[in-house]
Amino acid sequence: MNDLTTLTLPPDARGYAKASAIWQAGGLVSFPTETVYGLGADARNDHAVAGIFAAKERPSFNPLIVHVDSIAHAQKYVIWSAAADRLAQAFWPGPLTLVLPLKENAGLSPLVTAGLPTLAIRLPAHPVAQALLATFGGPVAAPSANPSGRISPTRAAHVLQGLSGRIDAVLDGGACDVGLESTIVGLADAPMLLRPGGLPAEALEAALDAPLAQHGGDDPLVAPGQMQSHYAPGAPVRLNAESAAEGELLLGFGAVDCDLNLSAAGDLREAAANLFHHLHALDARAARAIAVSPIPMHGLGAAINDRLRRAAAPRDR
Ligand code: TXA
Ligand code: MG
Repeated sequence: MNDLTTLTLPPDARGYAKASAIWQAGGLVSFPTETVYGLGADARNDHAVAGIFAAKERPSFNPLIVHVDSIAHAQKYVIWSAAADRLAQAFWPGPLTLVLPLKENAGLSPLVTAGLPTLAIRLPAHPVAQALLATFGGPVAAPSANPSGRISPTRAAHVLQGLSGRIDAVLDGGACDVGLESTIVGLADAPMLLRPGGLPAEALEAALDAPLAQHGGDDPLVAPGQMQSHYAPGAPVRLNAESAAEGELLLGFGAVDCDLNLSAAGDLREAAANLFHHLHALDARAARAIAVSPIPMHGLGAAINDRLRRAAAPRDR
């Protein structure tokens, strides 16, 4: 189904109007957020949402995040709570997704939640995402704009590499500055970290003034999309490498001799912003394998290590 001509739209009023018209007509537009590029469709339109799963070849049991342009807009779809308010006031707009009970008659396609009684919702901080969502005015369902299981996109060029011919357009807003997907917190019961991401868990715990329950394994009922193998480049990935072996390329961190460095200064924020871009770049060099330096586990390091573990996991596709 690589039969569409994928337009590249500019981040201005003309681009927003065109993207919004494509969404109204049930089409697919990729757009930048501060975390990664999303592949958006009108969350109320079954046919459009089904198109996301088809373009990504995503297993249909895996639910999507809905993107909105205000807290008031989010409250139309989910049952709000004191904890939701606390986190939204502290971190929205920003790289945080809240999972809350879905309101009855919310009007969203059931494909968005994959039949779950909860909805994942987020208010992105990227000015281009905000302008586009405001122009459209409705809820936009959007997973990361990569073929299912592959490396997430942090540039319009990454989106085109994976999905050109399968989507109507990409709105080019430059590089994403967080570079990791949003942190997902479940609030349907006691607050639980469902996916580490661009907002460190330490910051959430400080705002909640309580420890977050950690979602341990890969229980598909709790966080259905947390597959073992994900973010996978074409080459196998070897973690915690001190140096490259014969035929390997080394993705470094800190003061190491390497092919590409996530952050020579050992800065986790810089490393997060570079992670997917560097994996895309090394993958394009067709190495036998990609070796990766050890990354500390604190702050954004938890999410970086989570993505690297999945990139290195045995492939299931
Ligand atoms: O930063 C991000 O979150 C990006 C940008 C585009 O917003 N989106 C993103 O979406 O990473 P995606 O589809 O690649 O990952 C969403 C994750 C999946 O693991 C999915 O299973 C989980 O959120 N999810 C969605 N709805 C859920 C729900 N109701 N309960 C639990 N997990 C849910
Ligand atoms: Mg994804």
